[in-house]
Amino acid sequence: MNKGDICTNVDKSQLKFRFFQIYRCYQFLILSYLRSCMTDFRFSASIQGLIFDLDGVLVDTRPYHLAAWSRLAAQLGVEIDASHNEVLRGLSRMESLEKILEWGNLYCSEAEKLHWSDVKNNWYIDAITRMSPEEVLPGVRSFLETCKSVGKKMAVVSSSKNARTVLQSTELEPLFDAVVDGTMFKKSKPAPDVFWVAAELIGCTPDACVVFEDAPSGVSAAKKEGFWTVGVGIHRALCESNWRVSGFEQLTPIFEEQHSEIE
Ligand code: BG6
Ligand code: MG
Repeated sequence: MNKGDICTNVDKSQLKFRFFQIYRCYQFLILSYLRSCMTDFRFSASIQGLIFDLDGVLVDTRPYHLAAWSRLAAQLGVEIDASHNEVLRGLSRMESLEKILEWGNLYCSEAEKLHWSDVKNNWYIDAITRMSPEEVLPGVRSFLETCKSVGKKMAVVSSSKNARTVLQSTELEPLFDAVVDGTMFKKSKPAPDVFWVAAELIGCTPDACVVFEDAPSGVSAAKKEGFWTVGVGIHRALCESNWRVSGFEQLTPIFEEQHSEIE
């Protein structure tokens, strides 16, 4: 060890100590600042509408998609697993099929593609009609009920043509004022007009709405249109969102606290 190393070590520990002192002095201010960043997620009066993606945000339908896609892929001689399914997150049904064909280096005519996507969809519908209310993701139902109880308007925006079936099986449907699904648009999410339609249906402007999304493409589409976005999940690519949560369990207490401050 030479003299230089000792000096560097001393400097580092002094620096750490200094930081610690500053932190102790300003602890209250620093924590208040961090807290205000967190609660910049203004559920308060300025936020009138909440717009939720369905798959991956309110419920986890990925195992059902994966089961149906894997079964179809096997019939086509292609093997897929959970990592492939991650790539399919947020893609439309046809885009998902095209990805599988690409992985298997297969070619299909348009008519064959329609046939195979129908086959997959029938298996998928069979699974989601048997979903139960217990399959709603942790914290979601109580968060929705709390928001509804204070008069927030809420919509679902999903690329899925089966969104209503999932909402009915899980008994979430009555909590929403509007459902915008894949049956309503030729070009579905991440086409940004879907968020506008949802905002209009619940009577809110984008700057008064928060969009909850688990797909990075959905986050960037909503953000570009002036919506405040919350990325749901631990996906690194969600960093573009204004705020990130791992799930809904942490949101209800913040919401309740902000409302009691306003009242
Ligand atoms: C999205 C899912 O919500 O809906 C995708 O994230 C799915 O995985 C897409 O492919 C279309 O769903 P459906 O039910 O119309 O095949
Ligand atoms: Mg999703």
